[in-house]
Amino acid sequence: MILGTSRKTRWERALVTGASEGIGRAIAQQLAAAGVDLVLVARSGDRLEELAAELQASGGQLDVEVMEADLCDPEGLAAVEKRVVSEEVSIDLLVNNAGLGYEGPLYAQDGAEVSETIGVNVVALTRLTHAALRTMADRGRGQVILVSSMASLQGMPTTAVYSATKAFITSLGEALYEEHKGTGVTVTTVLPGLTRTEFHERGRWDLDKWPSVGWQDADEVAAEALRTAARSRPEVVTGWHNKVLALLSSKSPRRLRRSIIGWAARRN
Ligand SMILES: NC(=O)c1ccc[n+]([C@@H]2O[C@H](COP(=O)([O-])OP(=O)(O)OC[C@H]3O[C@@H](n4cnc5c(N)ncnc54)[C@H](OP(=O)(O)O)[C@@H]3O)[C@@H](O)[C@H]2O)c1
Repeated sequence: MILGTSRKTRWERALVTGASEGIGRAIAQQLAAAGVDLVLVARSGDRLEELAAELQASGGQLDVEVMEADLCDPEGLAAVEKRVVSEEVSIDLLVNNAGLGYEGPLYAQDGAEVSETIGVNVVALTRLTHAALRTMADRGRGQVILVSSMASLQGMPTTAVYSATKAFITSLGEALYEEHKGTGVTVTTVLPGLTRTEFHERGRWDLDKWPSVGWQDADEVAAEALRTAARSRPEVVTGWHNKVLALLSSKSPRRLRRSIIGWAARRN
């Protein structure tokens, strides 16, 4: 099994943001199957309640809390932060998964949607990580997962704000992993590529522009994310094809990468 393989990674209770759908939902299901109690966070309270009922019905003595919260809203974020630091029923795994991104050139985007993207992907993720690390550092135990993206490896024309927010996450995760080395606290950054979820429809991505091969299912991404965190590793690029792409990208000059990606974007 992916979890509970060592004393350090025997999670008792995880808080998962963006648990109502896609990768977050798959992570919550796999944690529940491993007997980890859960706090599920998203705006869609009804979907979270359904998921909580499903997880509890599937056996075991799981404790599943539902937190309906908008991470873009200061009150919603403050409530989740408060839950993260609560010592009463403490969290030993924080999964910062909630995220979004709209497609289109920046000048054509809606300003509120630009703020929403930065608000969830950067501000909320950083504040929740900050809150978790404060309590985990005191306890000398705990793990944080940051869901980034392959888009973090290269500035992406037409999803410029999204890829910039993900570059922030990958950089943050790399630094925090080293900051906490040897303390009993680890931060694992996950870089999925194209994954079949509601993400692209929500962000109005034109899927004709993107390759039709090389997609992963949310379950596969979730399993790789949890397996990597359970091993206290710093980072995982999910899927073999994404691993190959990431390796090629790391070996190519930045200027060449930028020209190729710019050419592909203009062609579309
Ligand atoms: N799908 C891909 O191809 C792909 C690739 C690379 C990385 N990723 C990353 O993977 C993560 C999960 O994406 P996904 O593909 O599973 O997307 P998804 O199916 O659209 O799910 C996104 C989740 O985030 C939650 N969320 C969005 N805005 C929120 C807000 N303001 N407050 C609270 N929760 C919010 C949504 O719940 P509510 O709407 O109920 O609030 C939902 O549960 C994201 O960080 C994304 O950037 C996805």
